[in-house]
Formats: sequence, structure tokens, C-alpha cells
Amino acid sequence: MKYTVITGSSSGIGYETALAFAARGKNLIIVARRLDKLEELKSKIQEINSDLNVVILTSDLSVTDQAYTLYNNLKEYQIETWINNAGLGEGSFVADQKLEKVETMLRVNIESLTILSTLYVRDYADVEGTQLINVSSALGYVIAVGSVAYSASKYYVSAFTEGLAKELEQKGAKIKAKILAPAITETEFLNKSIDVKDFDYKAHMPKYHTAKQMAGFMVELYDSNEVVGIVDQNYDFNLRGPIYPILEGL
Ligand SMILES: NC(=O)c1ccc[n+]([C@@H]2O[C@H](COP(=O)([O-])OP(=O)(O)OC[C@H]3O[C@@H](n4cnc5c(N)ncnc54)[C@H](OP(=O)(O)O)[C@@H]3O)[C@@H](O)[C@H]2O)c1
Repeated sequence: MKYTVITGSSSGIGYETALAFAARGKNLIIVARRLDKLEELKSKIQEINSDLNVVILTSDLSVTDQAYTLYNNLKEYQIETWINNAGLGEGSFVADQKLEKVETMLRVNIESLTILSTLYVRDYADVEGTQLINVSSALGYVIAVGSVAYSASKYYVSAFTEGLAKELEQKGAKIKAKILAPAITETEFLNKSIDVKDFDYKAHMPKYHTAKQMAGFMVELYDSNEVVGIVDQNYDFNLRGPIYPILEGL
């Protein structure tokens, strides 16, 4: 029995992606800190398809040891797809940013993602049909003044995953590494990034996607042979090859 792992599936893009993969008949391993939200998601998935297996695992990915524990706890499962979606932002100018929040962000967005990506490709490089999808951001390809540390963390996700995709291609590995780069999406993300209660997207954002739309783009990326799925400045979703220049042969 094969499974899709989705980190950060207790809300937003991860939650809707879990529902979209469930609609595709995929068994799921859903991961986040909030158990109540994961249990709610599991019930919803089982309403869609009661034959699916849904495994709940709580993990705080700002504690990098917990990334190792999460992976080790999943050794008994056959993992077809691993989606590193958990992430957070800090929407402030560098001089004003809350360093504790930035440290947490770097551990979730960069360190845990790197640990989980490495362990997954190490075990599954030669398994046909496997995919690693890392969630970056459109801000992983353009620097956002006022959210520079977040943007830089997503530059890391994009560069790391594009480079990994190249290494895997050169080795003739069977696993594919891909990047989803959303632009503004209506989730809990902005509330937490700028510490507000209920950000009004309709009132303040000329364009944005819903989490359900973004989950649809995730599925399009999953189905494609391209490495990058990115939302452009017009809010169109594009599937394309890697964006960063690559230096080979070192
Ligand atoms: N929304 C946007 O505008 C936007 C744009 C571009 C990229 N993205 C990226 O999309 C991804 C998903 O974000 P979202 O928009 O869906 O935001 P969200 O609704 O805030 O969801 C974030 C998810 O990450 C999990 N998470 C956060 N900290 C965690 C931790 N320490 N340990 C484990 N899980 C943790 C949360 O679960 P718990 O709180 O339950 O742990 C939640 O499930 C993120 O990587 C984000 O950077 C979002």
C-alpha cells in the first residue's frame, strides 16, 4: 500500500492538497502540530473515500530532531510522494523582525525541509513513480522587500530543490524532485506572518488564489514532467523547467 506524506496539512494549502490527493484515491500521512485539525481532516477524507488509509502524525518541525523522528516513524510505510509544505513567514523589515520567529521559520522552512528531502531521496531514488514536492513561493524567485528573510528562505527551497532535481536527473534516478511556487493564497499564512487575526483578502488584495485552487495547481505539477510550477505576476500558473542557472562538473 502506497502513501502520500503532506507536512503542514492542518490548514491552508496542505489541508486542501490532502483532500485533492484523497480525491485521486491516494492514502495519506498527514503531519502538523495541531492534532484536532488533523483529526477533522481525516474525517473529511474518509467521507470522500472510506477505503483510504489516513495516518496522523504530530510533529513540530521547528525542532529539527523531530524531523528525524518523523522520518524514522514512517519507515514501515511505502511512500510514493513526499510533499514538504509546512512553512511560515515573518512579514517585517530586517531591522524590525522578531528573531525568535525568524529562527523558527528558518528551522521549519530550511532545516527540516532539507533533512526530510535528503532522507526521502536517499531511500527512494530508485523507486519508479516516486516524487518529492517542496513548497517554495513566488518570493523564492523575487526578493520581497519587507519580508526579506522569508523570501531568502524560499530562495533556499527553490535553489536546493532545483539543484536536487538536476543531481537526480544526472544520476538517472527514478524519483522526481519538484517545486511548487505559490503567490498570495488565502490561508492562515498571512495572519501568522504579520500577526493579525483575520486578514481580509477581498478588501486588500487585487488578486490571490484560494487554497483549493493552489491544491489544484499542486495536482497539475504532480501530473506533469516539469520541475517547477509557479504562479506568475498575472496570477497565472505555469509549469516549466528549472529557473536558476546551474553550474555542473565541480
Ligand atoms: N499563503 C500564501 O500566500 C503562500 C504563498 C507562497 C507560499 N506559501 C507557502 O505555502 C506553504 C503552506 O502555507 P499556507 O499558506 O497553507 O499557510 P498555513 O495555512 O499557515 O499552513 C501552514 C502549515 O504549516 C504547518 N506548520 C507551521 N509551523 C509548523 C511547525 N513548527 N511544525 C510542523 N508544521 C508546521 C501548520 O500546521 P500547525 O500550525 O498545525 O503545526 C500548517 O499546517 C508554506 O510553505 C508557505 O510558505 C504560502
